[in-house]
Amino acid sequence: MCGIVGYVGHQAAGPILLEGLQRLEYRGYDSSGIAVLDHDGALSVMKREGKLRDLQAAIERMPGGATGIGHTRWATHGQPSDRNAHPHASSSGDVIVVQNGIVENYRELKAELQERLDAEGRSWQSDTDTEVIPELISRELAAGKSFGDALASAIGRLRGANAIAAVHRGSPNRIYAARKGSAGGIVIGYGDGEMFVASDLPALLPHTTSVYHLEDGEIAAIDPESVTIRGQGGTQFQPEPTQVDLDPVAIARGPFRHFMLKEIHEQPRALSDTIRGRARLEPASALPDDLDLPTETLASIERVLVIGMGTSLHAAMIGRWWIEQIAGIPADFDNASEFRFRAPLLGPSTLVVAVTQSGETIDTLGAMNHVRDRWGAPQVVITNVDGSEATRQADTSIIIRCGPEVGVASTKTFVGSLAALYLLACRIGHAQGRLSTEALSKRLEQLLTAPSLLERGIGQAARCAQIAQLFGAASNFLVLGRGIEYPLAMEAALKCKEISYVHAEGYAAGEMKHGPIALLDQGFPVIALAPRGPLFDKMTSTIQQVRARRAPVIAVGDEGDAELAELVDHFIAVPPAPPLLTPFSLTPVVQLLAYQLALTRGLDIDQPRNLAKTVTVE
Ligand code: G6P
Repeated sequence: MCGIVGYVGHQAAGPILLEGLQRLEYRGYDSSGIAVLDHDGALSVMKREGKLRDLQAAIERMPGGATGIGHTRWATHGQPSDRNAHPHASSSGDVIVVQNGIVENYRELKAELQERLDAEGRSWQSDTDTEVIPELISRELAAGKSFGDALASAIGRLRGANAIAAVHRGSPNRIYAARKGSAGGIVIGYGDGEMFVASDLPALLPHTTSVYHLEDGEIAAIDPESVTIRGQGGTQFQPEPTQVDLDPVAIARGPFRHFMLKEIHEQPRALSDTIRGRARLEPASALPDDLDLPTETLASIERVLVIGMGTSLHAAMIGRWWIEQIAGIPADFDNASEFRFRAPLLGPSTLVVAVTQSGETIDTLGAMNHVRDRWGAPQVVITNVDGSEATRQADTSIIIRCGPEVGVASTKTFVGSLAALYLLACRIGHAQGRLSTEALSKRLEQLLTAPSLLERGIGQAARCAQIAQLFGAASNFLVLGRGIEYPLAMEAALKCKEISYVHAEGYAAGEMKHGPIALLDQGFPVIALAPRGPLFDKMTSTIQQVRARRAPVIAVGDEGDAELAELVDHFIAVPPAPPLLTPFSLTPVVQLLAYQLALTRGLDIDQPRNLAKTVTVE
């Protein structure tokens, strides 16, 4: 949520900051801004409501400077406007701050600072919580502190998780960055006589692969040639950067019209990368080198709880199904934001599996904290980001290796998370002796067919486009699924909402008669996920009930299923898959339908309104 960038060195900071913000725009795009300092401490700030392109033209007229910070915003306090866009300045104008997170006690701090502002005849320049930060720093400076001390004191006063970058007129060749709690990361990139700062790696990759991830509680003073960290407790040190192994090409859109489309097409490769070396057939083993949990722990687990948010929650729902069916032990899923505020009864023999592609989602991290503090239950995280906060909190991690996902709506990380959950179910079942080595081998062999199922599902792109053309004007959809396809119905509806702004409900088909059926008429299309499987007959009964209400039915079913094709108004064929693997054959169609609907409606697919890819605020 919100993207932060910074630069200090020998080049003009403006274009570098702007390019970095373009790569972080997926984190928020309500407004953006940059502040640039020249060597003499002359400061220019430019900010604009709207997309970055609105800022771009303004920046061309901005004075130069080789030090600066920038921000792309997802509004929390104060609506999107020029006034509320970051950076924010102290009333004295010499301290400039960008922030990601929420200052939870900002009202209290504002009230405290108000008296001084009134006395000086000054007033707040925005409706944000952020503005208290430069003001607090400025007060500490006025009391005679160094900038580093003033920043540390100000941060000490803030409640809530926050990541900050700051510049000070008095230190024109230096930027500061700080991190408190889990408000998304701050990464420092080491260049040659120049340094970069960003919320996330994609903004740094074009410049450097030598990085340092700021830890919770650390404050960095960043000069062109060196970085000095003030750790918790005030210790100072110069960190050792590490090398990241990420290909800048992975974050280019290539020939695809949208990142989302590119990432849908990358799914067979992403899934293969997730399972590489983790689905060994002879002798059969799942995740052989990954889980840093003793086999005895895995063997003694009595229950598994899978948590997540958004698309990751839908992966968790499917994971629950696999753990029950493959590992043969009780399993549950939960929405992390609800779970953490209940009084769930876990006990140490429950394994908690957190699914979070970013590893930074605040509710998922909050739930993981709750598990650790209250229950001490073992935790596995399934994530795409090695080194993310979730990997630090969990006992062990499964990194899904999907490569950077830029489209705001998750696609390839969904299938990567699914593959990891399937492997985990296999590993637990085997460790518990409930899945024989022979059965494990069969399960893994089936998983190895998943990339081709995805490939063939993607092959239905043209058919999805035709259906989207037919239903482009519909305002509602009901998506029905049963069994393992029910979470996919939820995911289909989420995708329609996220990128097509269509009201869609994902329902368990059996539940349709208990309310949603009242909505149906000729103008209310129903998408039925109906591959052949144990519940197929029940699904066709539901389809009959829908048809009896004259609602148009679009069925997604097995290639060659003439009976189903005959029964419905529109048919999309997917490759027949073993019963537990239908999520892989259906997922691309579900995604492509939403993508094509959004395209028909001319929407901004990679940056849907009001959303952010990484949700680091509550
Ligand atoms: C946001 C994104 C979704 C994502 C969800 C959970 O809402 O827009 O695509 O599924 O966060 O994110 P996570 O990083 O925890 O998987």
